[in-house]
Amino acid sequence: MSEQARTQSVPGADYSSEVRNEALVRWVQEMADLCKPDAVYWCNGSQEEYDFFTGQLVDQGTFIRLNPEKRPNSFACFSDPSDVARVEDRTFICSLRKEDAGPTNNWEDPKTMKQTLNGLFDGCMQGRTMYVIPFSMGPLGSPISQIGVELSDSPYVVVNMRIMTRMGRKVIDILGEGDFVKCLHSVGAPLAPGQQDAKWPCNPDTKYIVHFPEERSIMSYGSGYGGNALLGKKCFALRIASSMARQEGWLAEHMLILGAESPEGEKTYLAAAFPSACGKTNFAMMIPPDSLDGWKITTVGDDIAWIKPDSSGQLHAINPEAGYFGVAPGTNYKTNPNAMETVKANAIFTNVGVTPDGDVWWEGMSDEPPKGTITWTGAVYDPASGKPVAHPNARFTVPAGQCPSIDPEWENPRGVPISAFIFGGRRSTTIPLVYQSFNWSFGVYLAATMGSEMTAAAFGKLGQVRRDPFAMLPFAGYHMGDYFNHWLQFGRDLPSPPRIFGVNWFRKDDHGNFVWPGFGENMRVLKWIIDRVKGKTSAVESPIGWMPHYNDIDFKGLDFSMRDFDKVMEVDREAWKEELMAHEELFSKLYDKLPKEFFFMRELLLSGLWRSPEHWHLAPERES
Ligand code: OXD
Ligand code: MN
Repeated sequence: MSEQARTQSVPGADYSSEVRNEALVRWVQEMADLCKPDAVYWCNGSQEEYDFFTGQLVDQGTFIRLNPEKRPNSFACFSDPSDVARVEDRTFICSLRKEDAGPTNNWEDPKTMKQTLNGLFDGCMQGRTMYVIPFSMGPLGSPISQIGVELSDSPYVVVNMRIMTRMGRKVIDILGEGDFVKCLHSVGAPLAPGQQDAKWPCNPDTKYIVHFPEERSIMSYGSGYGGNALLGKKCFALRIASSMARQEGWLAEHMLILGAESPEGEKTYLAAAFPSACGKTNFAMMIPPDSLDGWKITTVGDDIAWIKPDSSGQLHAINPEAGYFGVAPGTNYKTNPNAMETVKANAIFTNVGVTPDGDVWWEGMSDEPPKGTITWTGAVYDPASGKPVAHPNARFTVPAGQCPSIDPEWENPRGVPISAFIFGGRRSTTIPLVYQSFNWSFGVYLAATMGSEMTAAAFGKLGQVRRDPFAMLPFAGYHMGDYFNHWLQFGRDLPSPPRIFGVNWFRKDDHGNFVWPGFGENMRVLKWIIDRVKGKTSAVESPIGWMPHYNDIDFKGLDFSMRDFDKVMEVDREAWKEELMAHEELFSKLYDKLPKEFFFMRELLLSGLWRSPEHWHLAPERES
């Protein structure tokens, strides 16, 4: 059957002739002329349409339908081995001027880049359908939301975008004649007549993920995977949106949003930034320990926050996404029970293992995979091979509303009020479990200089600290120095900016063991943060900010001694001198646009590194 005939049989009305947005209709036509697909199909976003495309993906061997008794309405697929993750080295910010992209982004002159890309996109959809995917980032009609349209030749993208965004005809109705972000995507694998398609079409040799911030457009070529292909996520909601946010006076951040409800029913919302692979999804869905009598965490978002001040200066945040695209390996009933419940149905799994009884398995789910499990490379698992069942970046795509901890306000178009920001990385030494910055500017300094130890040798040596300002290094759509200035100015314009905290769940002892238990126990730290925001607890001044005494943290039900506390809270003068000096590398890289305040703040922090008495941060009773 031809592509044209196939898509015409998709259930749901073809509404393209009713689309009134001339700019959209013209752009779709121009892109169809360039990419030369066999057919153009406007996605309506219905369940029938989703079922049709998932069925088609099963028929062509891309999807495996999982056992409906174990994992209803769920699918697994394996990507091409060359297409398993975001490709930072192939990601470009093509602003008109190089200095607007800054030294932490790849840049190319937009005209030159367009020439290259137009050459690649010319005829790239031959033998395929171009899907028109209208989507809203954020609840439909929210004043904080934005609309995009992705043109893609991948039905995998269509079904994932239906989970990850509000997608379909209803978005076109809201868009009216308004502006939208243009997102063009191709797997870069045209089909000659009669050519058999690959199960995971992509271009193993050529990949480009390109952003044009002034035009507010994205062109992505050659990859079908995750953030490279689901353009609403990192490309739009972070890179393009951060640039829009700077111009318009708001924030687009790589942050989870959670609500914490006290036993008395008081709700506080916080936004927290952690680099990739630091457990953001786990934190956003955490279940506090029973011993903390009645504290409850609710989830608004696990990856991205869009934040705007209201007329009184109170910040409100929305999660622009409608689903989770979470890392599967390591997720289990101990690390994240809510995620395990969320992925029980209606999920798409990419690059996990498939068990003989038609379910999924990944490292960490249980001790051993069932015998006969198929790995992400399509082979039967062989323990002797030393190769994992799931790719370390294997993912689940699942509707956010299925999460048992979903916050009742998660789709409130006004967003939720944000009371504090938290920044954290993976650091085995130096950075304490928790501290509060002296003020907004020091908080911006803290976030700008945060770093994380590498867990995979992808970007340098294992264990080396990679500076990841605001966890936005791969996601800021403009010069990182301008980004810091935007944050500083943003806070100056607020009557009472939220408090800023640093956390580090990953400090290790001399034997290389984590000292802090993490996961649900992080609620104890969060409780101190909330008490600080509400003015309900004391703190002691340290050289780097305000810190809890041992007695300020509720350790009820947890065996965590003062000595342990000492280990996770210690501010070692020599280590901190080195830490502050190491910020120089980032400073010199961003020198042209680095806020001058940063130099003074570093000097102040250095001069404040007094030779403190041992255990200075512990409760006064103990020191006497
Ligand atoms: C992600 C990431 O996929 O940050 O969310 O890498
Ligand atoms: Mn992320």
